[in-house]
Amino acid sequence: MSILTFFFFNLILLIHGSIVLSCNPIDRDSLLSFHHQISSSPPLNWSSSVAADDCCQWEGVSCTGDGDGLLRRVTRLWLPERSLAGAITDFSFLANLSSLSHLNLSGNRISGAFPSLFPHSIKILDLSSNRFNGTVDSLSLRRRGLNLIAFNISNNSFSGAIPSSICSASPFLETLDFSMNQFTGRIYHGLGECSQLQILRAGFNSISGWLPNDLYSIRTLKEISLCNNQFSGPIDGRISLFSNLTILELHVNEFTGEIPNNIGLLSKLEQLQFHTNSLNGTLPHSLTDLSNLNTLLLRNNHFAGEISVLDFSKLQKLQAIDLGNNTFTGKVPDSLCLCRSLTALRLAYNKLTGEIPPCMSSLKSLSHFSISDNYLSNVAGALKILRHCENLAVLFMSRCFSDEPMPDDNDLLNLSGFENLQILTLGGCKLEGRIPFWISKLRRIKVLNLSYNKISGPIPKWLGNMPSMFVLNLTKNFLTGDLPYEITLLPSLISDNTSSDLSHLALPFLFDSLQYNRLFNLPRGLKVGNNSLSGNIPEEIGRLKLLRVLDLSNNNFNGGIPHQLSGLVNLERLDMSGNHLSGKIPESLTELNFLSYFNVANNDLEGEIPRKGQFDTFTADDFEGNPKLCGYLLRRNCTITGQDNNVDTNEEEEEENEGSWYNVPFGLGYFVGLFAVTISLLLINGSWISFRK
Ligand SMILES: *[C@@H]1O[C@H](CO)[C@@H](O)[C@H](O)[C@H]1NC(C)=O
Ligand SMILES: *[C@@H]1O[C@H](CO)[C@@H](O)[C@H](O)[C@H]1NC(C)=O
Ligand SMILES: *[C@@H]1O[C@H](CO)[C@@H](O)[C@H](O)[C@H]1NC(C)=O
Ligand SMILES: *[C@@H]1O[C@H](CO)[C@@H](O)[C@H](O)[C@H]1NC(C)=O
Ligand SMILES: *[C@@H]1O[C@H](CO)[C@@H](O)[C@H](O)[C@H]1NC(C)=O
Ligand SMILES: *[C@@H]1O[C@H](CO)[C@@H](O)[C@H](O)[C@H]1NC(C)=O
Ligand SMILES: *[C@@H]1O[C@H](CO)[C@@H](O)[C@H](O)[C@H]1NC(C)=O
Ligand SMILES: *[C@@H]1O[C@H](CO)[C@@H](O)[C@H](O)[C@H]1NC(C)=O
Ligand SMILES: *[C@@H]1O[C@H](CO)[C@@H](O)[C@H](O)[C@H]1NC(C)=O
Ligand SMILES: *[C@@H]1O[C@H](CO)[C@@H](O)[C@H](O)[C@H]1NC(C)=O
Ligand SMILES: *[C@@H]1O[C@H](CO)[C@@H](O)[C@H](O)[C@H]1NC(C)=O
Ligand SMILES: *[C@@H]1O[C@H](CO)[C@@H](O)[C@H](O)[C@H]1NC(C)=O
Repeated sequence: MSILTFFFFNLILLIHGSIVLSCNPIDRDSLLSFHHQISSSPPLNWSSSVAADDCCQWEGVSCTGDGDGLLRRVTRLWLPERSLAGAITDFSFLANLSSLSHLNLSGNRISGAFPSLFPHSIKILDLSSNRFNGTVDSLSLRRRGLNLIAFNISNNSFSGAIPSSICSASPFLETLDFSMNQFTGRIYHGLGECSQLQILRAGFNSISGWLPNDLYSIRTLKEISLCNNQFSGPIDGRISLFSNLTILELHVNEFTGEIPNNIGLLSKLEQLQFHTNSLNGTLPHSLTDLSNLNTLLLRNNHFAGEISVLDFSKLQKLQAIDLGNNTFTGKVPDSLCLCRSLTALRLAYNKLTGEIPPCMSSLKSLSHFSISDNYLSNVAGALKILRHCENLAVLFMSRCFSDEPMPDDNDLLNLSGFENLQILTLGGCKLEGRIPFWISKLRRIKVLNLSYNKISGPIPKWLGNMPSMFVLNLTKNFLTGDLPYEITLLPSLISDNTSSDLSHLALPFLFDSLQYNRLFNLPRGLKVGNNSLSGNIPEEIGRLKLLRVLDLSNNNFNGGIPHQLSGLVNLERLDMSGNHLSGKIPESLTELNFLSYFNVANNDLEGEIPRKGQFDTFTADDFEGNPKLCGYLLRRNCTITGQDNNVDTNEEEEEENEGSWYNVPFGLGYFVGLFAVTISLLLINGSWISFRK
């Protein structure tokens, strides 16, 4: 055999081989029909000449190992997160891929309606995180004989009713995920036919009505997640039949009634989230039999009764418990101290009484504790106990104690502990006394709120020496003396070496998004309003250039407004109202580009109100109660020196001219003013963007 013949023989084998391995042309045409309807970048290599015919070699396509005759069939189309975009208007290709078992188009930007037909072979269908919309035509699913095991259409824009009939079409389903769409209405009978279902998710829709009766017949369920809908009615005692359940999320709905007494039978349960419903009654004792529980969230309901009668000691895996915003009574249960894994404990907004139990000092993992808005006593005792929780980072105790002495250095002699405390709130407790020196030992404190107490005496100089503090809230107390110069040295308000980002402290599951934002996006701020502070505003305060909120209102500050305040380049709110400040408003304040709130009402200021920058957005209310201030905003002309003797005439003329002030908007002034506002807004936006990028 010559070399040439050998070569040709092999070539023929090669060509023949490629034919043997190539894909069924029906499948190839089907895939091409799909391909024509979408775009992708980088492009799929489906039309590359190397294997233009053999669709089994295309990206994301898998075929049967053996040929069907000579031709292999497509079994998987697996193209998640592949930047596919476009509207699929013709889904007929899908039905023609008659051996397709896996279809995953998750995380693309494909729009269109739900496919009307599927091949019988389909087992895994994942269309999640796309832009599909319209109803899920249950007719297409109702045909018996589908073999779906997993069905995920979450995070699209599907509407209409949940297609319960999918279960009669595909009785072997194990996973159903309808979450994050716009499904409405109630769930009708049908899901019960999914007798092997393990995961059911339909959260973040607008589904209403009671849980369907036949849901309770699906004993195989491991996860039920129906949060953030409008489900109503009771949580049935039959829920205890889900003996393999590990996750039960029914939060943010309108469920009523009590937690079933037999909930304790769910012995595998790890997460129980019933928060933000209208549940009532007392907590069943069996709840504390759930020894695998790590998360128990019951806040924002109408639960009542003594919580101290519950024995939490079996909950050795419990990490987070939130009983906040109910009407629980009694003491903080001692048995909680035995939950060794506890990192977050929230009991805020209840009617608890008594003292913090001494045993809480043994909670070494505890990092968040909120007991705000209760009726406890002995704040000094509480601090003495909690300081031993060496991981405690967040301690909310506002409006929890009332009319007690501010724990002083005798109470907390040689304070040690609180090594990790970063947020301490003790506001609204009507605590009496001085700002105690032990606070100076909280070296990691970032946020300190002592507002709404009866604290008297001076603001101590050492407060200016707290290395990480960027929110100091002393609003509404009886503080006297001046604002110490040392406060203008607060390192975390001067340079950004400590992050103001508290998000690492936030435990999202503990808070609603609103509270979450309120608590953990705190702007760097200095608030000493509503006290009896006096003296000048120290000009060095202009150094605190990271400050976003400065509240000096309702004190007895006098002297001028330091022009150095223009150094507070990040300032958004500046309140100096209700003092005895005199002199002019410094022109330099017009340079504060982020200033959206400014108030100097009720002082002794004089001269013309600056008219530039953000000052064009402030209103007359922000300046009222300063008889000697003048300018456009106050409709009071600025008297030119040497015309003082004409004051009366001027006033008369002013009154006569009032009409012309009103008329200004329709004259040239209006357009000049509008222009100025527009330009300054543009500048603000521009600088905001460039600054924040
Ligand atoms: C197409 O891309 C896939 C994945 O990147 C690769 O495995 C395959 O070999 C490519 N096929 C061709 C014909 O280039
Ligand atoms: C689809 O692909 C995504 C991304 O790889 C993956 O996370 C997901 O689990 C897949 N879907 C199914 C049902 O396996
Ligand atoms: C599906 O198959 C039918 C019959 O074989 C054919 O007429 C139709 O064109 C095919 N559709 C697509 C999109 O390939
Ligand atoms: C459904 O898909 C989303 C991603 O798009 C994923 O986060 C989710 O876990 C999937 N659901 C199930 C039950 O696997
Ligand atoms: C929802 O889909 C969008 C777009 O594909 C994606 O950016 C987002 O991360 C998805 N959200 C979740 C929770 O999966
Ligand atoms: C689906 O989205 C398309 C635009 O992508 C829109 O034209 C159509 O009206 C939507 N259909 C439904 C039922 O919302
Ligand atoms: C619960 O899970 C176990 C172990 O995975 C399994 O053997 C058992 O059949 C399940 N029970 C039900 C009712 O599905
Ligand atoms: C709980 O609420 C239901 C109505 O939703 C009411 O009938 C029942 O009396 C309430 N139970 C308690 C203990 O308040
Ligand atoms: C307490 O829960 C109710 C709903 O039960 C809610 O309306 C209210 O805002 C919550 N209050 C707080 C302080 O979270
Ligand atoms: C407190 O510290 C001082 C000096 O640091 C020491 O003399 C005193 O004994 C300590 N008191 C207690 C109760 O530890
Ligand atoms: C300061 O405390 C007051 C009253 O408790 C509160 O309204 C305000 O939001 C607090 N400000 C900051 C920055 O913590
Ligand atoms: C007030 O100022 C306006 C514009 O400068 C001027 O036209 C008007 O005569 C002034 N009125 C008085 C009373 O000075």
